[in-house]
Amino acid sequence: MRSTKDQTSSQAMKQAAARAALHYVVEGRIVGVGTGSTASLFIDELAGVKNRVAGAVASSEDTKKRLEGHGIEVFDLNEITDLPVYIDGADEITPAMHMIKGGGGALTREKIVSAVAGKFVCIVDGTKLVDTLGHFALPVEVIPMASTYVAREIAKLGGVAVARAGFVTDNGNLILDVNGLRILDPVDLETRLNQIAGVVTNGLFARRPADVCLIGTPDGVRTMTAAL
Ligand code: A5P
Repeated sequence: MRSTKDQTSSQAMKQAAARAALHYVVEGRIVGVGTGSTASLFIDELAGVKNRVAGAVASSEDTKKRLEGHGIEVFDLNEITDLPVYIDGADEITPAMHMIKGGGGALTREKIVSAVAGKFVCIVDGTKLVDTLGHFALPVEVIPMASTYVAREIAKLGGVAVARAGFVTDNGNLILDVNGLRILDPVDLETRLNQIAGVVTNGLFARRPADVCLIGTPDGVRTMTAAL
């Protein structure tokens, strides 16, 4: 169990990364906004400069509510043809900028909005940086009638899938949290999981990795980009 002091410093590091992300918001344009505690801190920072943006696209109903609560106009993604930047947290990120996301269950909309965005800016505290993905359970969004079938197919890949109790996504689906996968090739696994009938999408963000990661550390915010 993490101590109160650890939680406080993790919060401060998330806050610092969220504040640093303002630098990537493009003046006069719409910004894509993620979901989770770090994204929420970003929304609160964005509120302070809201007159500099045209509005936002939200990756979840929670994010939409928080943006609107700050008086930031929220656009439907279908109204947008060009989204310069998407800003969101992650549950794990590697130096190759591959991520696990979906701890908050918003992975599908996060993947859609980030697919449209020109640049994905990931904001995390230092505890999220890992060499290999998979310590954090991988969320998979599934159509409810397919959940046990999908769990059996995931078992063939070596994963143990457990339905997230009492949770329904914004899209009316279920989340399976998958432990036990050795994620040595995130791009391949992301593709394979998405081929299982009934999977809406999975929380690997490797085919479309982050472009920039702002990592809050005790020594300040470190900027990581994918090695060429
Ligand atoms: C939401 O579904 C997730 O993808 C979050 O972006 C991710 O879980 C990071 O959340 P925190 O910022 O709360 O750690």
